[in-house]
Parts: sequence; C-alpha cells; structure tokens
Amino acid sequence: MNETKNKFQETKELTEKYLLNTYNRYPVAFKYGVGELLFDQDNKEYIDFQSGISVTNLGHGEADIIEALREQSDRIFHSSNLYYSEEQAKLAQVIIENSFPGKVFLCNSGTEANEAAFKLIRRHGINKNLEKPVVLALHSSFHGRTFSSMTMTGNSSIREGFGELAADVHFVTPNDQQSLISAFDKYGENIAGLIMELIIGEGGIIPMSQGFVNLARKLTEETNSLLVFDEIQTGMGRTGKMFCFEHYGFAPDAFTLAKALGSGFPIGAMIVSDEYAPLIGKGMHGTTFGGNHLACAVAYETFKVILSRNILEHVETLSVNMFQRLENMKANSSLIKEVRGRGLHIGLELTLPSRPIVEECLKRGLVVNSTANNVIRIMPPLTISNEKASEGLDILESVLKG
Ligand SMILES: Cc1ncc(COP(=O)(O)O)c(C=O)c1O
Repeated sequence: MNETKNKFQETKELTEKYLLNTYNRYPVAFKYGVGELLFDQDNKEYIDFQSGISVTNLGHGEADIIEALREQSDRIFHSSNLYYSEEQAKLAQVIIENSFPGKVFLCNSGTEANEAAFKLIRRHGINKNLEKPVVLALHSSFHGRTFSSMTMTGNSSIREGFGELAADVHFVTPNDQQSLISAFDKYGENIAGLIMELIIGEGGIIPMSQGFVNLARKLTEETNSLLVFDEIQTGMGRTGKMFCFEHYGFAPDAFTLAKALGSGFPIGAMIVSDEYAPLIGKGMHGTTFGGNHLACAVAYETFKVILSRNILEHVETLSVNMFQRLENMKANSSLIKEVRGRGLHIGLELTLPSRPIVEECLKRGLVVNSTANNVIRIMPPLTISNEKASEGLDILESVLKG
C-alpha cells in the first residue's frame, strides 16, 4: 500500500515538475483497463463512466482493435500524404457509406477537424464574394483549443486571454429559435456557415431540439450558407446511432469527427458533402500525420466492430434503463435538477457544484466527470454490461445520498 502510495506520489511530483500546468487533474493515475473497468497503480478497480471523454467507446483492451493495431504496426506506421494509402481509402469509404455522399479529410484531433471546417466555411464565404464572411456558432459550445476552434467556442473562459481572435464569429443562444432568426436577420447573406454540436457536451450536455435544428437547416439553405455539425463527442454510436444527426432526419453540409473514431488512437476527420467538397482543392489544406496507416487501420476496425455487433441496439436499450433509473434518483433527491442527453451521452445537472461529487465517486470506484460547473457527465463505454452500468449508478446514488 505504502509502496503504491509512493508510486502515485512519484507520478504526481514528476507531472507537476515537468508538464505544463494545463489540467486540473483528479488524484489518480490509471495503469490499465479491461472492458468497462479501469485499474490504478494500486490495482484498485473503477467502473468507467467516462470513456476518456467519449473516446474509448468500445471499452479498454478490445481484442479486435488491438489486433488491427498490431497487424498494421507490423506492416507500416506512416508513409505520407504524398502517396496513396489503402487504409485511408477504406476508412473514407466506410465513413461515407455510413453518412452521406461526400469526401473525407483526415487529421489527428477534434480541434484540427474543426480547423478544417472553419477553412471550409470561410472558403465558401470567399466563393460567395463576401468581404467579411460571418461564421455563426452557439453560446456554451466547445470546438477545441486551436485558434479558430477556440474562436468558434461559445465560452469566454476559453476564448479570452490570447488577444485578437481569428475572425468574425457571432453567437446564437442554443435552442432559442428567436436568437437564430435574429442572427440570420442581422447578417443574412454575409453568413458563410453555422457550426453546432447537436448535444452541447463540455457546455453541460444540452441536446438541441428538433425545431431548432430544423430552423438552422432552413435558414442556412435560404442564405446559401453551410450547416456544419460537430460530432466529435456525439459521433461513433454514442447516442445510439452512428452519428447523432441521424436522429434529426437530415444531413448537414459537413460534419467533424475525432475522439471515438480511433478508439483511443488519435485521429480526426472532416466530412463534406459532394456539393461542397470542391471548395477545398489540392494544396489548400493538409497535414503530415493526418490519416497515417496506423490511425486509419484502427478507425476502420472501430467501424467494423460497431457495425458487426449489436452495439447500437445495446446503447438504445441500456439508455432507456439508465434514464429511468436516473429519473427515479431525481425524484428522490433534491440535489438533482435535471437529467438530460441521448443514448449513453448523459448529463445530470445538480443543484450544487459537481466536482466534489465526482471526487467522492472516484474514491468509491466510479469514474465520472464534472462539466459546466454543476453537471455530472455520464458516458460509459457503449459496450458496458447492464450489470456494471447498474453498479456504477449504485455508487453514484450512494454518493448523492451523502
Ligand atoms: C464537441 C467537441 N468538439 C471539439 C473538441 C476538441 O477535440 P480535441 O480535444 O480532440 O481537439 C471536443 C473535445 O472535447 C469536443 O467535445
């Protein structure tokens, strides 16, 4: 025990000494994972209700993913986008076959996928002969930490402190149709595009209403501007469909993916409909690592696993059970204000700050996370068993009871 305490202490001290102080970390270092379970340096077991912020959607140590990585690493890690790649081509094909006719740009992370989307939107504005193309985004949104992604992020604590931002980005209130109409009235034809999450993730698990999204589609069409969905957190089965936009019954002009696309291996993607794909031509965008053989092989296998097992069906049925249980907990607890979300993308808004609750859950062997100050975010692997999901909720319930 003492030895392990020392091990964690050592990790903590090294981290504080050598890593830039960018994260407010919880006091644990995970050493390995098995399915929906995580183990720390003391081999203490935790139920994973977090999936590394919706990344390890297939759980830890999924055999087919490991095999795909191993097989590919035996052949080749990286060549270059100067050459063709079978792994890239196969991955792009499976993405398109499961979304809509279009083209894929591959990169390494969510923020890079949104950088590509930002350039696409701006390119569309330039094509429309706009002097100052306007980009619309939502308050409370999160799109990443690089400059244009943070410019499109509707959270001042992320946007501020670095001087002048990238460009003309204006914000609309989520689920407020009047706010959307006012923005389109104000900027009209000068709008190049609107980017939005269908479930605001970092901003507190806020699902967008069908009416709001329908209106966004209608107004972008009327003004010849692009509608882009950021599916970085909602994509790859998290909400019970491969992509969250499928719930709404229509497709955007472009969408972005990352996180669970590579099951933990870094990869991002921007998908553009055939109509707008010609906006980005040869030499206009690129990356060294993006779409490397390893990442593509793992992402392709991730699709194969999701499509060949009953994972999406499991998400749908487990989701009903988890929402029911959480609603019951809400009925019996004055600490829970609202239960929100879709599929296994669940937010529990509390009447008090959520971080201390999350810290207590961690002590009792449950990994959840705190977002938007008073929301507990629950995102287990899509493959979690009913039994472990229920055990995790038992822990949460006991913590909320105090
Ligand atoms: C909706 C959304 N967009 C973009 C990002 C940024 O992704 P990354 O951290 O891979 O750059 C995130 C990350 O949390 C996200 O949730």
